[in-house]
Amino acid sequence: CKCSPLYPFIPTILWSKANKGTVWRKERNGLQYWGYSWFQRVRCPNSRFEKGDFSLQINNVREGDGGVVVKVVTSVINYCKVTPWPHGATVRWTLNNSPFVPQAGIAANRGTTENVVREKATARLTGNWTCVVDYKGKEGRASAALAVKGVIHPSKDDTKVYAAVGSAVTLPCVFSPSLIPSNPVWEKLKPGFLFKPAPGRLPTSFSSSFSQHPSDQSASLKEVGLEDEGRYRCSGSIAGQRLTRNMQLVVAKSNSIPSKDTGSATLTCQLTDTSEVTDYEWVHVVYDLNGTRSVGSLQKGKSVSISRVSKENQGEWACRFYGRDGILGNITYHIQLMSGLSGQTSLGVSHNTAAMVGLSFLLLVLLLILAQMYKNHRRRKRIFQYPALETIVHTVSNEREERERKQVKN
Ligand SMILES: *[C@@H]1O[C@H](CO)[C@@H](O)[C@H](O)[C@H]1NC(C)=O
Ligand SMILES: *[C@@H]1O[C@H](CO)[C@@H](O)[C@H](O)[C@H]1NC(C)=O
Repeated sequence: CKCSPLYPFIPTILWSKANKGTVWRKERNGLQYWGYSWFQRVRCPNSRFEKGDFSLQINNVREGDGGVVVKVVTSVINYCKVTPWPHGATVRWTLNNSPFVPQAGIAANRGTTENVVREKATARLTGNWTCVVDYKGKEGRASAALAVKGVIHPSKDDTKVYAAVGSAVTLPCVFSPSLIPSNPVWEKLKPGFLFKPAPGRLPTSFSSSFSQHPSDQSASLKEVGLEDEGRYRCSGSIAGQRLTRNMQLVVAKSNSIPSKDTGSATLTCQLTDTSEVTDYEWVHVVYDLNGTRSVGSLQKGKSVSISRVSKENQGEWACRFYGRDGILGNITYHIQLMSGLSGQTSLGVSHNTAAMVGLSFLLLVLLLILAQMYKNHRRRKRIFQYPALETIVHTVSNEREERERKQVKN
């Protein structure tokens, strides 16, 4: 009795002789039972179980041992067993009442009594499984419920998480509600190590275990930078087994290239990974008097050209990027139209706080100089109000100088 070594656990094994009852049985908990007249004559060597070998070994064979022997193996793997296997029967599988299209292919062990569905265990396999056996126009059904536990969000490896530069982002890592992983670890994987990932350094604004629930091991980045893009791995131990989930953080950035002569600017949407992006659009975000947000004009494309002189284009622009299953994220860009000295309208960006501070300082200095000049002017004016006094002071000082000169001569 050889099965492919796909069983993650040691199954229940039952050997019986057709119409003669149990020969030997071993429960999942390890207890063994022998049928009458078989005691200590039969065994299944434990050492071969790992290889999927559940063959029965009979010692001191007797005449009465002849006949048909039937085996039953149960495990958590889905399989459909029909005994004896009807020649020419076909087998279909359904999951939650819809036909199941296997990704790895159904291992239809034709000619044996089993039909096995072998799939990588993912959350999408959870549900009610039915195997439908068609034989000569008759249908036989058997159902079983299957629960796959592990990291349920994200549900598959290499899921992409999108975030705009400067925004906050959550890297999800949620285990099944009943699972509490021990020794949870987050790592950022160094680029270029696809097969044997090497852990690198986590970003400075990275924090994990903020959730109240122990099955939620999600992490967050307070402020995403371009350098934070790349692959991350979350892992935790469940019953001695290490479960891991890899994901990729994709960072989005927007910029503007003004063109001097035509009075327009080109807004561009940039992502560190565009492999899942199918579409881009730029929308103008408008706020009414009550502060309610709505979407104004819309332009398709990764890069769009907008007029710099039109006052309607002032404010917030958002680049939305889409994948096959809908919107993936967005990034905003702010445009300010400032009236310059020449009366012309010019383009400015919200990131020019430094320039504003510099300008304010210059104005302040100018004001101070003006105030000082005014003060000087006022003082001079006050002295001219008493011209006689000035003459007296002058005369007195001249007389004193004369006297001193005479004394020196003497
Ligand atoms: C602003 O809100 C008030 C009261 O809710 C409403 O009557 C008015 O129509 C709103 N104005 C706009 C421009 O939406
Ligand atoms: C951009 O994404 C945020 C967060 O998902 C959303 O609240 C916002 O409405 C989006 N903006 C636009 C213009 O789509």
